[in-house]
Amino acid sequence: MSYVRSEIAVMSGYVSGEQPRDGHIVKLNTNENPYRASEKVYAAIRQAAERGLSRYPDPVAGEVRNAAAKKFGVVPESILCGNGSDDLLTILTRTFVGSGELLRLPYPTYILYRSLAEIQGARSETVPFRADWTLSDGIFRAAERNDLRLVFLPNPNSPSGTVLPKQRILEIAENLPCPLVVDEAYADFAEEHCIDLVERCEKIIVCRTMSKSYSLAGLRFGFLVAQPHLVAEMLKVKDSYNCDSLSIAAAAAALSDDDWLADNRQKIIVTKKRLTDKVRALGYTVPDSQANFIWATYPERPLKAVYEFLKSQGILVRYMVYPNWGDGLRISVGTDEQTDRCIELLGQMPLQ
Ligand SMILES: Cc1ncc(COP(=O)(O)O)c(C=O)c1O
Repeated sequence: MSYVRSEIAVMSGYVSGEQPRDGHIVKLNTNENPYRASEKVYAAIRQAAERGLSRYPDPVAGEVRNAAAKKFGVVPESILCGNGSDDLLTILTRTFVGSGELLRLPYPTYILYRSLAEIQGARSETVPFRADWTLSDGIFRAAERNDLRLVFLPNPNSPSGTVLPKQRILEIAENLPCPLVVDEAYADFAEEHCIDLVERCEKIIVCRTMSKSYSLAGLRFGFLVAQPHLVAEMLKVKDSYNCDSLSIAAAAAALSDDDWLADNRQKIIVTKKRLTDKVRALGYTVPDSQANFIWATYPERPLKAVYEFLKSQGILVRYMVYPNWGDGLRISVGTDEQTDRCIELLGQMPLQ
């Protein structure tokens, strides 16, 4: 007899991208940033460590709340900080979706959302993206049992990097009976974002991570923006000290270094343009991406062999197979040198 909850026993569990510890591998598989974070971040970590680690950290990470509130023109009470945005996605699911209730997500998208529903003992349903990566009104259609409690919508989406316009996000939220989580993990690379919509529509909750655009995946920090009365509820759900002193100091320093962010963003966007053009020239289909990665598919050609060939040459990309959708390679933007090497190797594996 198993002691484990039946919902957990039947689920397969989220499998994260490969994280090899061999420093020689070029990692273009989990959308990390190839550049070193702002020096202000390292200075802040050193200072926080000097102050000592014997005390518990600020439970609400006030320093980051203030920095984010200032940056986005909202009140600090509308910011909730988390141990990476995955922590926030867990808090959101636990706050809004009860056991047996319904959570909705588009497809294909970030795989973790479905695992969160499973852990919660909730049901989940998907609304497929159209071939051009737009979404039908099915995303806000009323649920049969009237128990739709939360919708996750990454914008830009993963694995496609495509975006839904802000106006469409607002339209979706206004038509939903429940909160809409706009997961903006990649929004710093995009042309627009939805944080200013939070004040206009209480159903919109925007989630951000420091893992991608701030080069801090190893640190674990994310924050969300929601109306203060909803943040007050989510505070009841989170672990007491979900962010540590070093990461709080680092995240606050990162958020206040706008020059570093602008410079990094520009570098990634320029390299992504070259990656997109060259991979398209090799015959792959690549939708316009507003993230720090591209999604490459090749009609009628399975791409597993390409992934394996790249891996054998020391370049790791993410090979994804989505049932009823097909497979593809999600390639993160690396340094110019890493990206050029990846393009060169792709050119050595003609698929025609
Ligand atoms: C859409 C999306 N949301 C959230 C995350 C998780 O980010 P974090 O590192 O902050 O947990 C990822 C990471 O790949 C992602 O792709």
